[in-house]
Amino acid sequence: MLSLENLTVAYGKAVALDGVSIHADAGEFIAVIGANGAGKTTLLNAAMGLLPLTSGSVRYRGHCIDDLATEQRVARGMVLVSESRDLFGVLSVEDNLRLGGYLHRRRADAAASLERVYALLPKLKERRKQQVATLSGGEQQMVAIGRALMTEPVAILLDEPSIGLAPLVVQQIFEAIAALKTQGMTAVIVEQNARLALSVADRGYVMELGRIVMDGSAAALADDPRLNAAYFGS
Ligand SMILES: Nc1ncnc2c1ncn2[C@@H]1O[C@H](COP(=O)(O)OP(=O)(O)OP(=O)(O)O)[C@@H](O)[C@H]1O
Ligand SMILES: [Mg+2]
Repeated sequence: MLSLENLTVAYGKAVALDGVSIHADAGEFIAVIGANGAGKTTLLNAAMGLLPLTSGSVRYRGHCIDDLATEQRVARGMVLVSESRDLFGVLSVEDNLRLGGYLHRRRADAAASLERVYALLPKLKERRKQQVATLSGGEQQMVAIGRALMTEPVAILLDEPSIGLAPLVVQQIFEAIAALKTQGMTAVIVEQNARLALSVADRGYVMELGRIVMDGSAAALADDPRLNAAYFGS
């Protein structure tokens, strides 16, 4: 479904990704874990065409998509929920969601997409008229995820969905993410919270300083003593 092949990305002279390869099969959930500055956000931004590649390429559904602009990738079913969320604070929840439907592949189906988002994240329906800037952080993260889902994605990339949020709301958000798996979606979830990301993933990769240093099944990584010491704080 999605294959990031040997990606190298630099910010000026600073190499942030140094030959990174990861892939996600159709319907697979992939966790990419790593500490601050490992290159996780850079990896997702590069996959979406938001950053130029120094070398390597991005393949999606069997085709090289390096020449596609970000919005063309979205129109083909890829979407990113960015770390910064990038919501329109002065607009209502529903207007933010509707903006997500702007690139809907079948515009007439946007109303049905909105109902599906509300079914997945009922809190958003309760709050649909509320200005986004006045929502809690967790609710804003739900809006960011809901807005991405309005594009009816095939493959969703999530950048630190749990960051800065209270445990209860993190649990709600990860339940919603897990529900996407039952709908057959493909996902790449980037997290500093390794245990959480591995709990919904089939496989995982560990990044350090712009490189993949470990990979395996989610179960194997969750049990790996090297990860325990470095990422699980135990
Ligand atoms: N716009 C930029 N200009 C210069 N350097 C950058 C830029 N963005 C990121 N970097 C550097 O690239 C490296 C990777 O950063 P990146 O944000 O991808 O890491 P990350 O794993 O997402 O970290 P975090 O967990 O803090 O979100 C870091 O050394 C960072 O300082
Ligand atoms: Mg990041």
